[in-house]
Amino acid sequence: MTESWEGDTTAAWAARWGIPRLEVHERIGSTNDRARELAEAGADPFTTVIAEEQSAGRGRDGRRWESPPSSGLWMSVVAPGQDASGRLLVPLRVGLAVCRAIERAAPGVRAGIKWPNDVQVEGRKLSGILCEAGAGAVVIGVGINVRQGALSPELSSVAVALEEVADGLVDRAALAGRVLFELRELVTQGPVVLDEALGRELAERDVLRGRRVAAGVGGTGIARGINRDGALLLEIGPGDVRHVVAGHVKIHDQ
Ligand code: BTN
Repeated sequence: MTESWEGDTTAAWAARWGIPRLEVHERIGSTNDRARELAEAGADPFTTVIAEEQSAGRGRDGRRWESPPSSGLWMSVVAPGQDASGRLLVPLRVGLAVCRAIERAAPGVRAGIKWPNDVQVEGRKLSGILCEAGAGAVVIGVGINVRQGALSPELSSVAVALEEVADGLVDRAALAGRVLFELRELVTQGPVVLDEALGRELAERDVLRGRRVAAGVGGTGIARGINRDGALLLEIGPGDVRHVVAGHVKIHDQ
């Protein structure tokens, strides 16, 4: 663990961001695992773990998440526990928070959400979100590719780093602070459906709307938006709109 990061002490960043504690690690297995340990030990909401590098960064469904040194923002936040009924919305709320933070840190960039929890820019994945519930808390893991070197050649056709699309260098500390600010706005509130304004913002950011997509067991059809409870609306055929609540989605119209 290190006591300083991006030109200041971790205690100073925590105070500036209004969070109870910030841990920064030069190298760790997964920030989500460390945040889970802290949550189980009774850490307060918004306790945050950042790593310069993850040796076992995790994506959804146990996939690997590439987290090379100093090239992205790899962070996990202990969030207040959520009712099971509202859990589908947590990744979407986090996605909205990440989109807003990205646009703030990199003016001119427009971020979209690929249901349920990828953040895309210009059709490529910029950020992944991994929310894991348990022990009365939810751990919110956010990975944002920031520097050009963040991506292996195999990933560069499907993923993008923020500095490839931003006008200049991106300040990772400002980005982290803004993610936390937006998370506090969006993840603290409990209702199990999105209010009208958030529903509208999600619709504007929904990159699947109108596209032909395959949603695993949910079937293949045209994405017709995201319901206010977080389900993907998938039109399988005339009058047959399914509510998809879990799984991965592939775009099939290209
Ligand atoms: C995905 O797109 O599948 C989710 C990727 C989530 C990656 C972040 S990086 C910080 C946190 N620690 C992890 O091990 N994973 C998440």
